[in-house]
Amino acid sequence: MRPFIIAGNWKMNTTLSDAVVLARAIRGGLDDMPTDRVRVIVCPPFVSLSSVHEIIRDSGIALGAQNVHERDRGAYTGEISAAMLGSVGCEYVIIGHSERRKYFGETDVQVNAKVKKALENELRPIVCVGESLDERERGITVDVVSRQVRGAFDGVEAHNFQKCIIAYEPVWAIGTGKTATPQQAQEVHKVIRGLVRDAAGNEIAERFVIQYGGSMKPENAGDLLGQPDVDGGLIGGASLNADSFLAIVQAAESTGRNG
Ligand code: PGA
Repeated sequence: MRPFIIAGNWKMNTTLSDAVVLARAIRGGLDDMPTDRVRVIVCPPFVSLSSVHEIIRDSGIALGAQNVHERDRGAYTGEISAAMLGSVGCEYVIIGHSERRKYFGETDVQVNAKVKKALENELRPIVCVGESLDERERGITVDVVSRQVRGAFDGVEAHNFQKCIIAYEPVWAIGTGKTATPQQAQEVHKVIRGLVRDAAGNEIAERFVIQYGGSMKPENAGDLLGQPDVDGGLIGGASLNADSFLAIVQAAESTGRNG
């Protein structure tokens, strides 16, 4: 059975002191909530990674970053390498978020280079894919998502897929309050699992975690997570409040899915 993985993407929110308060509240809540079926990841801004790592140490909560540079080191002012992320306790890194693609011009080729660099450095990529509203309305969602998945994993060896997560995040649902219906999410998640199967074989595909992201909140998490191929969530807005984030974790823990 696949675990559920619930990750909080704090984006460009929280100062250091806000991040410490939020991490403590999440840790405190999870210490009181036995979670057998759910793994939790928090992805604070770079400047808070080290302090949040201290807070979540030995709690079972994993640490993730929101981006990584595709080179090892050098004259890339303002960038952060995979080795740097590892050195402050990161286990995961979000790669190719639609905001990076849209505002910073990240391409599938760059996303692919980042995925490979993360894997080389023992970081687990959370690779984001998803169509825009225009692409959905034109009926090309599956084409767009398939191109992004194939692009991100081009040349990645089958055994390395086990270390990765894909987050399906329809761009029109991110931060808008609009959520994909459970059926819309399931349809795309199933396509993604098929692509993983083609690239890495059935066994790895069956264990592969595919998260949904885009206005997931306590009220809709249970229905989304009840779908057979929805294995967790990448949560933006609702992860900035410990109670709503914990309520999503609780929804995952208590969903009736059995797959
Ligand atoms: P949202 O963001 O939950 O605020 O829609 C999700 C994401 O962008 O990862």
